[in-house]
Amino acid sequence: MAKIVTKYVCQSCGYVSPRWVGKCPNCSEWNTFVEEAPSPLRVSRKPSSVASKLDPVPLEDIEKDDVPRLRTGIQEFDRVLGGGIVSGSLILLGGDPGIGKSTMMMQLALQLKDSVVLYITGEESARQIKLRAERLQAKTARNILLFAETNLDLILDVIERGTPDLIVIDSIQTMYRPGLESAPGSVSQVRESTALLLRLAKTRGVPIFLIGHVTKEGVIAGPRVIEHMVDTVLQFEGEAHYSYRVLRALKNRFGSTNEIGIFEMHDAGLREVRNPSEVFLSERRSGTSGSTVVASIEGSRPILLEVQALVTPTSYGMPQRNTTGVDYRRLSLLLAVLEKRVGLRLGTHDVFVNIAGGVKIDEPAVDLGIATSITSSLRDVPVDAGTVAVGEIGLGGEIRTIGQIEKRVQEASKLGFKRIIVPQNNAKGLKAKEIEVIPVDRIEKAMEALLS
Ligand code: TYD
Ligand code: MG
Repeated sequence: MAKIVTKYVCQSCGYVSPRWVGKCPNCSEWNTFVEEAPSPLRVSRKPSSVASKLDPVPLEDIEKDDVPRLRTGIQEFDRVLGGGIVSGSLILLGGDPGIGKSTMMMQLALQLKDSVVLYITGEESARQIKLRAERLQAKTARNILLFAETNLDLILDVIERGTPDLIVIDSIQTMYRPGLESAPGSVSQVRESTALLLRLAKTRGVPIFLIGHVTKEGVIAGPRVIEHMVDTVLQFEGEAHYSYRVLRALKNRFGSTNEIGIFEMHDAGLREVRNPSEVFLSERRSGTSGSTVVASIEGSRPILLEVQALVTPTSYGMPQRNTTGVDYRRLSLLLAVLEKRVGLRLGTHDVFVNIAGGVKIDEPAVDLGIATSITSSLRDVPVDAGTVAVGEIGLGGEIRTIGQIEKRVQEASKLGFKRIIVPQNNAKGLKAKEIEVIPVDRIEKAMEALLS
């Protein structure tokens, strides 16, 4: 008989060690190793009697029919997925607890009136799910089957007996296989459960959504080890105190990963935001200093956003720098450039920068907007309300070229803005209707154009 060898698995990254260790040599996390017995569930691969099934097929002979997709009717969701749910695909929906993952899945299920959706809940009771559905004003929900269970063997049994068109597992961290020693949510349970569901999705051709929780650091803990197994990784994110939610594809075997979907959480569920620019600018007050409108690109869509800055003299000790929605290090860099090239004295001031609406942007094209808002607040001179500013700022104070300029200009023009400040090199050959394009090459000139 083979000797049973236990192994130790890092619960953070899945690193396997023969001995217990305090600090993971792979991800440097402390106290993450858990003893795991080898899985007794490995299926032995007996050669099948149907030999033809095992023969490889020439690539040429494989039929290239378009992947059938199930449209959910939630446009923002379909777009992120690349045009709907591909049958037989395994999709991981990650996000912080309470962000709205279960709500999203329930709304999706309610939309798909003609498909049987099997909703497996391991976190909430069937009654809680029912209450949520009622809150979402579900009148007819005959297509949704609920099953409150965490034992995967029982779940598989139920799936085998029915013919669901879509399966939702809420959440993968609560599922377990009874044969495995480790607790639900551990790396080996999550991995084993996913492998099983993956096989099921592929053999039955039914799409399966796995809900997964994310830790503070923004990585899908536990489920991170299954990212490579699933076809699509969706991330649902948002700031706790704002109602906006952004859905992103971090990985997508059936579409691009550039698209985002924007939603707003209401009393009765998530509502699609089809015109994000208008929504994000709706609370803007013209005539206040420290506010600039920028044109950012999210996926393939331009979105106009308001960058706010507040610069005040430091009352005691160290000046504070605080950001919401933009990178802190980027702010430090821009402050240094403003000090050096524009001559602003910011060393004795607190600086707060915020993207209105709780949106996060990480593209450098918003640099100019941030710099302008800071300068505007320091001098207490408002930026012209009809102007949009885009451009990356280099360390030398030069305004650098950015991508997709036409889309940004178009969006600004569409929303009735009169002027747009763009990097000099972007202005060449740029066609613009009903909007004045002002090219700038240096940060000093941009400040002049915007704050005069
Ligand atoms: P939920 O979908 O349970 O989050 P997750 O599954 O990601 O943990 O959503 C929980 C939050 O959403 C909760 O704080 C209540 C809020 N919510 C609304 O604001 N409106 C609604 O219609 C629903 C169903 C939830
Ligand atoms: Mg939930």
